[in-house]
Amino acid sequence: MSDPVQAQYEAYPYPARDPKDEARRLITGSPSHLLEIGHYVFAGRRDWSRPFRALFAGGGTGDGAVMLAQQLADRGCPAEVVHLDLSTASRAVAEARARVRGLANMRFVTGSLLDAGALGRFDYVDCCGVLHHLEAPEAGLRALAQVLEPDGGIGIMVYGELGRSGVYEMQDLLRRLAPDDQPAADRVAMARRVVRALPETNLFRRNPLLGDHLSSDAGLFDLLLHARDRAYRVPGVLDLLAAADLDLVSFIEPIRYRPETWVTDPSVRRRLGELPDVERMAAAELLSCGMKVHIAYAVPHGRGRQAAAVPSDRAIPAIRDLDPALLARALKPGVPLTVRFDGVPLSLPMPALAGPIVARVDGRRTVGEIGADLRTTVDRRLSDAAFAAAFDATYAALNGVNRMLLAGFGAAAA
Ligand SMILES: C[S@@+](CC[C@H](N)C(=O)[O-])C[C@H]1O[C@@H](n2cnc3c(N)ncnc32)[C@H](O)[C@@H]1O
Repeated sequence: MSDPVQAQYEAYPYPARDPKDEARRLITGSPSHLLEIGHYVFAGRRDWSRPFRALFAGGGTGDGAVMLAQQLADRGCPAEVVHLDLSTASRAVAEARARVRGLANMRFVTGSLLDAGALGRFDYVDCCGVLHHLEAPEAGLRALAQVLEPDGGIGIMVYGELGRSGVYEMQDLLRRLAPDDQPAADRVAMARRVVRALPETNLFRRNPLLGDHLSSDAGLFDLLLHARDRAYRVPGVLDLLAAADLDLVSFIEPIRYRPETWVTDPSVRRRLGELPDVERMAAAELLSCGMKVHIAYAVPHGRGRQAAAVPSDRAIPAIRDLDPALLARALKPGVPLTVRFDGVPLSLPMPALAGPIVARVDGRRTVGEIGADLRTTVDRRLSDAAFAAAFDATYAALNGVNRMLLAGFGAAAA
């Protein structure tokens, strides 16, 4: 096998998964969660009863592909989810996971994403954790952009440079101590010894965000012994998208890319507020220094501004991967919501009505219907303006942390 990246993923399929675990849980994440695709690629207006084709380019052991295939099956969408990977060992794990779940909507192809054109057109393409391992990431993303339907979109994940502080120094060190002409198992053993022996000043040891090497040999290999990997800052991600003629729709989670998230000083915040959008996102990364990955949704050039769903009275909000009743109970009037991103606890002010609003979000009711119900059951004097302000603030906070998305739109009020 000539390509060292391909050889690595034959020896260490990534991430390490046991197909038997499918019987007890579904792994969900970003990109490629059905709610996110609906919100950020199809503006909340996709009719999921229509046929849908998705490609997972470098699908690995199947996390994303299995998630979306299951979600599409649960919705009764006539779909085909194509898992494409160079590694036959990874494909075998992904196929076994699909079998345990009884998913009949998946197809498996062994090959390079550079040849994706042979597989036809897709409504959605996922490329998570792959582009940064290619010799030419721009060419890879271009090949994927070319298989998109004009109204389709793509979800990518690439490494973040600053959050991986210490990784590349460790890779450099391990190329000397555990070179790639040695057996893989010996290299892993040496890497473990080196990690345990690091002095306090070592950048890798000082980075509290890195833990993949602790999870499995595959995780350690991926992080510290990778044959080819690079990392990006925000402007580099945008250049990568532009080179493939794609427009950014949103980074995930949006709150991480708002610089005010990371700084409280009012003068600094004011100055940040004056910056153009791209500079603001770049500043957020430079302030945080904790972004290990960049997850982004993008669409063919020209559609970027229309692709994301926009809240209105007719919008149907949904809570992503949390029981709305539990979240509602955690939202106490006057108490900010605490969330943790990139190693930092963040305190989100929430309106007093956030709990009652979230309790009524069920993926079926519109915003207008939620307001009407609140008026009947909680506060008869709740004005339209007061409800709108409370909903907007709740939505801004929860959409920012990728928990509230718009699943669709109801009919116009009579
Ligand atoms: C880090 S894993 C990511 C797996 C999966 N996307 C995930 O996020 O869980 C990278 C995967 O990309 C695959 N890969 C690398 N280069 C590829 C290429 N040119 N075409 C197809 N797959 C490729 C590898 O075999 C490996 O399974």
